[in-house]
Amino acid sequence: MHSTARSAMDLFSPEVAEEPYGYYRKLRDAGPVVYLENLDAYALSRYEDVRAALKDWHTFGSAEGTAFNPAMNENVQGVILTAEPPEHGALRAALMDRLRLSTVRELGDWVQERADEFVDPLVQLGSFDVATELSRPFPASVVGELIGLKPEMTEKFVVGSDAVFAAMGPMNDLTRRGLSIVGEVLETIAGLSADDLVPGSMGADLYEAAARGEIPPDHVVKLLWNYAGPAFDTTIHAISNLIRALADNPGQLALLHENPSLVPAAVDEGLRYDAPIQIWGRYCRKDFAFGDSVVPADSRVALLFGAANRDERRFPAPDRFDIRRNARDMLSFGYGLHRCTGAPLAQLEIEAVLRAFVTRVQAVEVLESERHLNHTVRGFRSLRIQVHT
Ligand code: HEM
Repeated sequence: MHSTARSAMDLFSPEVAEEPYGYYRKLRDAGPVVYLENLDAYALSRYEDVRAALKDWHTFGSAEGTAFNPAMNENVQGVILTAEPPEHGALRAALMDRLRLSTVRELGDWVQERADEFVDPLVQLGSFDVATELSRPFPASVVGELIGLKPEMTEKFVVGSDAVFAAMGPMNDLTRRGLSIVGEVLETIAGLSADDLVPGSMGADLYEAAARGEIPPDHVVKLLWNYAGPAFDTTIHAISNLIRALADNPGQLALLHENPSLVPAAVDEGLRYDAPIQIWGRYCRKDFAFGDSVVPADSRVALLFGAANRDERRFPAPDRFDIRRNARDMLSFGYGLHRCTGAPLAQLEIEAVLRAFVTRVQAVEVLESERHLNHTVRGFRSLRIQVHT
């Protein structure tokens, strides 16, 4: 006898977005699969189950869209996120060319210098808003320059990046607003030409490949959007979430200040503790059992990265932020076929900014903070802190 739990929980409500972890615990405890009545979708919230679904892309497909409304699922057609082999391999190769670990490592010194340039004056000020003065402008500056965008165009991409994530939710005002911004941004990008991109940049490479006949010219815009859509808001929120976790855990900040070689482990733990992407969609193509619970064929599935990373079955004392634990296999970058191609770059950026921060700062107080409400990403609209050097 199959028994799949049901819940009236609204994962997209402002209360859950504000502080989701207690809700996630209830879902994990209710069973491996929980049918969410409001969303008409099946939630997976335990680590092993989310990972298994990510691995089995034949059953848990992306081609039907990874959003929770038909308009956005239509909108994401043709991008890497919804592509499947063999097309997926070709798109991924084109993107990975400039994003692979070895290539990204060469950027290390440049990214660190840029991080130091951002952090130094802010720390000297003594108090500043992490969200608006550091987390947002830093990745915008790094990724904007790598893609070869002019600053005003980078700003459009950053706004578009937030809108894409907002538009992934069920149809409501926030989703509608997101969709309309995505439409405007895509129109602007469609009007770009090779002259709008800095020679030698990732973006310029795509136009050159099209000019040589290697990729169809009408794919350039999609590829540019593939680079940029997921590249900004994820990293932006990861930085704010990590600094907030350190502010709330002064012992951990002191440890990092004394021993900055723990920075990479702290970045993994930050990504585990407060996943930038909390919830993501799949489409279940055939009945699939997790224990005695079943996800039925032709249903929407909600993969709760934020819940999986806090699963006590996988991470002991999961609500404790502990940079000495090994959080390498947290699921914040996904897993399997669609695992984030930008992970090495994101990690480099977050590590650089954290290193710049912890080598200068000994203690932090939060003066004021406000969560950013979005249907997918978790971060801050404002995070004003006082630093002590
Ligand atoms: C902390 C920062 C980041 C997080 C948490 C993150 C998270 C994710 C996740 C969860 C996925 C998997 C989606 C799925 O399974 O359907 C993904 C895919 C992707 N990410 Fe990231 N991402 C980050 C930064 C970046 C950056 C900086 C870039 C680009 C420079 C990027 C580009 C991509 C692309 C192109 C994909 C699609 C890969 C595919 O479908 O094969 N991401 N990301």
